[in-house]
Formats: sequence, C-alpha cells, structure tokens
Amino acid sequence: SQLEKGGYPHFMLKEIYEQPSTLVDCIRGRINPDTCEVKLSGVIDHREKFVNARRIIFVACGTSWHASLIGEHLIESICRIPVEVEYASEFRYRNPIIREDDIVIAVSQSGETADTLAAVELARKAGAFVFGICNVVGSSIARATDSGAYIHVGPEIGVASTKAFTGQVTVMAMLALAVGRERETVSDAYYHEVSSALLYLPETLEEVLKVAPQVADLAKIFTYAHNFIYLGRGYNYPTALEGALKLKEISYIHAEGYPAAEMKHGPIALIDAEMPTVAIATPDHTYEKTASNIEEIRARGGKIIAVIARDDRQVRRSADYVIEVPVIAECLMPIVVSVPLQLLAYYIAVYKGRNVDQPRNLAKSVTVE
Ligand code: AGP
Repeated sequence: SQLEKGGYPHFMLKEIYEQPSTLVDCIRGRINPDTCEVKLSGVIDHREKFVNARRIIFVACGTSWHASLIGEHLIESICRIPVEVEYASEFRYRNPIIREDDIVIAVSQSGETADTLAAVELARKAGAFVFGICNVVGSSIARATDSGAYIHVGPEIGVASTKAFTGQVTVMAMLALAVGRERETVSDAYYHEVSSALLYLPETLEEVLKVAPQVADLAKIFTYAHNFIYLGRGYNYPTALEGALKLKEISYIHAEGYPAAEMKHGPIALIDAEMPTVAIATPDHTYEKTASNIEEIRARGGKIIAVIARDDRQVRRSADYVIEVPVIAECLMPIVVSVPLQLLAYYIAVYKGRNVDQPRNLAKSVTVE
C-alpha cells in the first residue's frame, strides 16, 4: 500500500533512498566511532577458523553474487586469503573440492534461495566452516550456517535488490578488516582509512542521492535505447555487472557489464551511436587505463555516460554525459557508485511504464532450483 511505501511511488525508490539509514543499522555496534575498531561477533567467536583459513569460497546468486565478487577483492587484498566466487547453482553440481580448512561464505538477502541453501548443505557435509551473510533473520540459510553476520537493512520488498547489495558490501568490508587485523595482514593506516570511511558512509550516501534529478534527466534521454554496456575495472567491475543487471531486470533493456579492458577483445565491435556505454571512471589505480578505454569507445562513435569524481578533468572531456559522485576509499566505491546506477535503472523503467517492483518473470526469492 501507499502507506508502506512511505510516500514513495515504488518500494524500489523507497529502498534506494533508505540506504543512508540502512547502513547506519548495518554498522551499528560493529565499528566503534571513537577508535574505528571493527568487531563482528560471528568472526570473534570463530577467530581460529578465520586466522587459519586456507581458502574462502563465496556461494551466491544474482546481486548477492556480484557483492561476493567485491568481497573477493576485499578479502584477498586485506586478508591475503585466496578467494573463489561461485554461482551456487554451478558449485553444487560440480562435485567441488572442499576442505576442512576452507571457509564457505553464503551470501543471500532472503536466506531462502534454493541453490544457495543446497550449496551450504553440501559444504557443511564436506566439513567446511560455513558463514552466512543474510538479511532475513532466522531464514533457512541463516539457520543452516555455522556462523554469520546479518546485514540488518530491513525488509527488501522490491524485486530488484538495492539496499541489500550495499549492506552486503558493507558487511564484507567489515569482515575483511576484522579478519585482516587478526591475521596481521592490514596496516593500521589502511585499516583506519577504510573503517572511518565506513562510519561516514551514511553521510556519503546522502550526498550521492543528490544526483537523482540529474540521473532522471539522463534516463529520459536514454529511455528508448535497446542495449547498454556498463564498464568498470577493479572494485568497480562487479558494480558494472550489478548496474547492468538492475537495468535488465526492471526495464527489460538488454545490458551487459564488462571489465573495461575486455572491450577490445570483442565487445567493442558492438559500439555505434545506438549503443550507449555507462563507464565507471572514479579515481583509483586503474583510472588512466579506464580513461583510455573510454577514449576508444568515443573514437567509434559510442555515447558515453561517465560516473566520475566531482573534480575529474580528464574523462569529463571524452564523456557525453557525466554523473558526479563523492570519492571515498577505493574499496568502498562500489557502494557509492551503485546508487546512481540503481537510480538510472529505476527512472528508465518508470519512463518505460514498467512494473518496477514486480518485473515480469521474476520472483523476489528463487526457491526453486
Ligand atoms: C537482484 O536484483 C535479483 N532480483 C536477484 O538476482 C537476487 O539477487 C538473487 O535471486 C539472489 O537472491 P538472494 O540474495 O535472496 O539469495
């Protein structure tokens, strides 16, 4: 009902706008605002498991799988533990190699996704320690795991996942910091940079949300595009995948996410004036490379919407349109960048007259295999 939507026309828009406060709930009691120390009880209770883990395997589907790709990057760089990310549906049917010193992390908003639950059961049978990152308290996956951390972002009603994604990445960042500290693989300076940026996330997202009117204008320009390419590198490659998935799900426009440098290995053949590219080019250690990838697209007549920092000078010159975002620690930028991409998908779907909260052929949780 209208009341439940809190005055917003759709649950999805409400959930996008809730993100500053859902991240307050996600972080509450887990990061000390005075010392920036991160504490996750699910990690503290199983400290030895995490300190001695030989490998971490994420199992998930859809948006939760995209968040897991970011988790892979966070954990490998902060904890120096090798990580694999698996589609739960592929993992479970492959007779996977699972050892007792592996940690399997199951990521699921609903906690009811059938393939993810089956992957959890398989991993437990094989003797792995299984950790859950779920939203729904007491859900099947939350109950089937040995330990876990809830994302605490409140009920997500829109079929397109938004606040769960930012909550998942936030929990993964806290997990990586907590484990990195125990394993002594993270410097104090980096630990504090990331944990204080996490504390400021709610304010940062309030800032990001101010781009909504500008994104709505862009959505109007591109409502009738038939295809989209989303590009990013590093931490923002999964953000590109997630942006493309949002657009597909609710607007029914074909969209693909790619690591920017892969374009020249095939997909750049698709580029012409009818194929818009959403390029994520916020400042990070691959910025210069991304800038030249964008230049290659421009040279082939492609239209470019670039997500950039406010003080960007270089990419701005090759882009047709820009979306400006605040810049925080590189590893947390997917949380920032995903917000305008959620809004872009949302407004395009609204302009196309789609059923935003309940897109055709989709269910909120996929409880069939
Ligand atoms: C996200 O927008 C999708 N609706 C879908 O990919 C979803 O993330 C996937 O089905 C996994 O759901 P879960 O997180 O509840 O397991």
